[in-house]
Order: sequence, then C-alpha cells, then structure tokens
Amino acid sequence: MTPVQDIAPTITASHAALTRDFPLKPFAIRHKLAGHPLLTLSRIAQLASELPRDLIEYNSGKVAISQDPNAIPSVDLDPVEVVKRIETAGAWMVLKRIENSPPYRRLLEDTLLSVAKARGFNSCLDAGFEQIEGFLFVSSPNSTTPFHLDSEDNFFVQIHGEKFFTVYDNADRAIASDDQIEHSMTKHRNLVFDPQFADRGTEFHMHGGDGCYIPYQWPHWVRTANDYSISLAITWKTKDVRRVNDLHFCNSMLRGVGFPQQAPGKNPVFDAMKLAVFRTGTTAIKPLRASLAMRKLLRRLALGKDANYYMKDA
Ligand SMILES: [Fe+2]
Repeated sequence: MTPVQDIAPTITASHAALTRDFPLKPFAIRHKLAGHPLLTLSRIAQLASELPRDLIEYNSGKVAISQDPNAIPSVDLDPVEVVKRIETAGAWMVLKRIENSPPYRRLLEDTLLSVAKARGFNSCLDAGFEQIEGFLFVSSPNSTTPFHLDSEDNFFVQIHGEKFFTVYDNADRAIASDDQIEHSMTKHRNLVFDPQFADRGTEFHMHGGDGCYIPYQWPHWVRTANDYSISLAITWKTKDVRRVNDLHFCNSMLRGVGFPQQAPGKNPVFDAMKLAVFRTGTTAIKPLRASLAMRKLLRRLALGKDANYYMKDA
C-alpha cells in the first residue's frame, strides 16, 4: 500500500521539459496521484453512479487502432457494473467532466497548481490553466483506445496498470487533415490510422506514477497490457484553444447547412465575424443545457443525427 505522505496531487517533469518543450511538444512526467482515495475503483464506481449519463461513455475494449465508429462493439452492463467488474468486463470507459464533482475539481486544480509553481507562477490562472476539466479512464486488460485527437492540452497520469500511449506530431496535417480534425471534434473523435504512420509516433510506456504531457490536437492511440487500468487526463483550454475550437464547431454547423468553410486561421476577418455570432448564440442557449434531454436535442441539432451515439440506452 502506498504511504499516505507519498499521495500528493503533484506532477513533476524535467526543467527542460517544462521550459523548452511545454506547451508544444510531448514529454514524460512523474506524479504522486497513484493510490489517491478519489482514484480507486470503489470511489470511481460511486462517481459513475452520480454523473449524468451523457458524461459517461463506454464500449468494448476489443477495438482496432483504426476503428470504424459505426462498428464499435458495446458492453451490456450499466456504468457502475462496468467499473466494479473492470478486471473481466472487456471494457473501455471514460467518465467525462469530473471537475463538476467538488473533490475531483480540487484534485485537478491542486495537481495543476504544482505545475504552475514549477513554472514560476503562483496560481493556475497565472500559468494559463483555464477551463480545467478532468476525464477519468477505466479499462480492462488488453483494451485499445482507437486513434483520435483531443481539443485541449493534457497532463495524462497513469494511476494503475500498464499502458502504452503513442502520440504523433500533426503540424504538417499529413496524418490528419483540417477536414479530419473538424470531423474528429464535431462528429466522432476516431481518426483513420494509416500503418505507414507507425514509425512516426512517440510511445510512452507507463505504470502507476508515470504520465505524459499531450499537446493540443496531437493524434494518439492507447493500449493497456495484462492488468486493468485507471488513468486520469487533467486538461485545460487556453483562450487561443477555445477560439480555435469554437471556430471548428461553427464551421461544422455552417457546413451542415450547405456552406463550405475554410479551416480556422485561413481567413482571420471572417473568423472574427463567425466567432462573434457563434458565441452570442451559444451564450443565449446556455441555460437550456441544464437538462439532459435538452443537451441531447441541442447536440442532435448542432452536430447531426449521430451526435448522441454513446448513450443509446439513456
Ligand atoms: Fe485522447
């Protein structure tokens, strides 16, 4: 059992990584979150019972690196049972937006504060850690997370079990084009993986106590080994990231009603106009998002008929 004094919400990395590589390049980290009482299977099962259904996604862990989103095998258990039986369920699960639970929010903020201080700042806000969100992953042995990208910066920490995390630089858009990035953000996150990419990846081999920093929109795929796995993605969005994300969503909606759009950054004047209209609209409908049924309807209207693919039973 991990001694109590060794469980502290801290991340460490080399000085070079925190000053030279951050935030544009991935790097290995270490942390002291393994064994934390909020990150045990029994506490995670409790969290799964408390979260709204649209913040829980799970399916079989027996999927391909290049997985067709329309052919993902499901798991016939409720979310709490998936967590309790994760050693044998053959499942992959993510609990989203766990910062909505106050103790988890504190854990995320305290952990990022350790990085902020290591970089010479006194607060998360000063360090640029805005819109902090947490995603908790629970996976059975020998599970795969297909190739995809995420639209935030991420300290990924391995809590239990062995995990292989392979990440790819996409600065030249050769691995995922602008169109594929927009699709990944707004329809389904999975990307097509070309085996020719394989030797371009950087692999992080992690056990409890290890982790990695994953920059904004760097494509990656992940697999577990012979033990079940618990991992936590500690994410944030800077102002620039929120701007690009909003433009992608705006572009997707306009494209959906027949107006082709250029990728963010290609036409800055038009980007600014679109962003103003989009943000006025999303602010106006924000109160509607308190209801699960309304969130499902809004996702369906904004992102298309498959937008609620991950909660067929809800
Ligand atoms: Fe990811």
